[in-house]
Amino acid sequence: MANLDSQNDRVAIIYTPINQSLRVREEERFADEEEQEVAVYVKEALALAGRSADILCLDLDHLEKLAGYAGVFNLVENYSGCDPNLESNFARRLQELGLPFTGPGALTLKTCLNKADTKARILQHGLLSPAYSVIKPGDAIQTGLPFPLFVKPVQEDGSLGVGINSEVNSQADLVAKVQEIHDLYHEPALVEEFIDGRDISVAILGNDADLQVLPPREIIFEPGFVGPKVLTYEASWVTTSAAYAYNKNICPCPLNDHARELMMIMARLISQFMGCQDYTRVDFRLRGNTPYALEVNPKPSIHPDSGFSLCARAAGLDYSAMVNTILDQALRKQPLQYRTQPARESLRL
Ligand SMILES: Nc1ncnc2c1ncn2[C@@H]1O[C@H](COP(=O)(O)OP(=O)(O)O)[C@@H](O)[C@H]1O
Ligand SMILES: [Mg+2]
Repeated sequence: MANLDSQNDRVAIIYTPINQSLRVREEERFADEEEQEVAVYVKEALALAGRSADILCLDLDHLEKLAGYAGVFNLVENYSGCDPNLESNFARRLQELGLPFTGPGALTLKTCLNKADTKARILQHGLLSPAYSVIKPGDAIQTGLPFPLFVKPVQEDGSLGVGINSEVNSQADLVAKVQEIHDLYHEPALVEEFIDGRDISVAILGNDADLQVLPPREIIFEPGFVGPKVLTYEASWVTTSAAYAYNKNICPCPLNDHARELMMIMARLISQFMGCQDYTRVDFRLRGNTPYALEVNPKPSIHPDSGFSLCARAAGLDYSAMVNTILDQALRKQPLQYRTQPARESLRL
């Protein structure tokens, strides 16, 4: 354990300072910059429950500054151009310090960052995820999968690398998009079966006996929108774009009982076997009544306007209650809990 002063119940809210000189894709700054804004909202939400917190920039060289805090509200994420292991390394260091922190441990963060690794685990557990192929830079660009296909980077978040050219219908378009991902992101491209369906996410709050599966949320494009109904980077972040203006979150979203139950059960199982903790969001595409799990967000955005916050509100939790619940759950965890990804046999519905 770190040398913690048990009298002190202050919390450190930690975010990543964005190193402008490392950022390689300036146009992606919107996604990177959200963290600092969220830190302020989190601090206000904790204050409403009488909790004191300090907002600190991530400083891996001086983690001793954290001794004395009761715990960490961990907002640290990778950003464009940084070491992709930044997020999981920071969690690993907190584990070593024995300091409780929000969200899961390093192993889960690392596995969830890689969408192909995540999909492999989902499929191993007998759940559906789109058929896929991973194409590394230098590999032959062929998949054996029938068109239409969907192409995205294997390890980015927040729709980075997802564009209107992600849906591909020909070998030429496939080659162009895969090449674009290799050139811009220097990482493998994940090519998936295109799931023509609805964008639905299921958020989970809390652990074990306190775990709540929140009502599903859908992202829809309002009538009048021209273009592919896909959550591209533009649609997520570029406030001046039509794709941004026309999409909106609906929670709870209309679903028949079968699809709703199925997605809620799948999300709970997936979050458990991935070792997610405190708060999680699982993204699906729903084709007819068949949900395909796309990815797991082990530290989803908790901006007040985020899908996660909307789902919490739909379940009767205002922003402050949601943020404080995440912290309560974290402070209750034992150090070993960060290391585990439970075996199949121990999963509980
Ligand atoms: N296989 C697919 N078929 C159809 N659309 C997809 C597929 N994969 C992703 N998408 C679209 O791209 C969006 C972002 O993909 P996702 O896998 O959730 O990555 P991230 O949110 O981390 O960028 C989804 O919300 C969906 O609109
Ligand atoms: Mg997603």
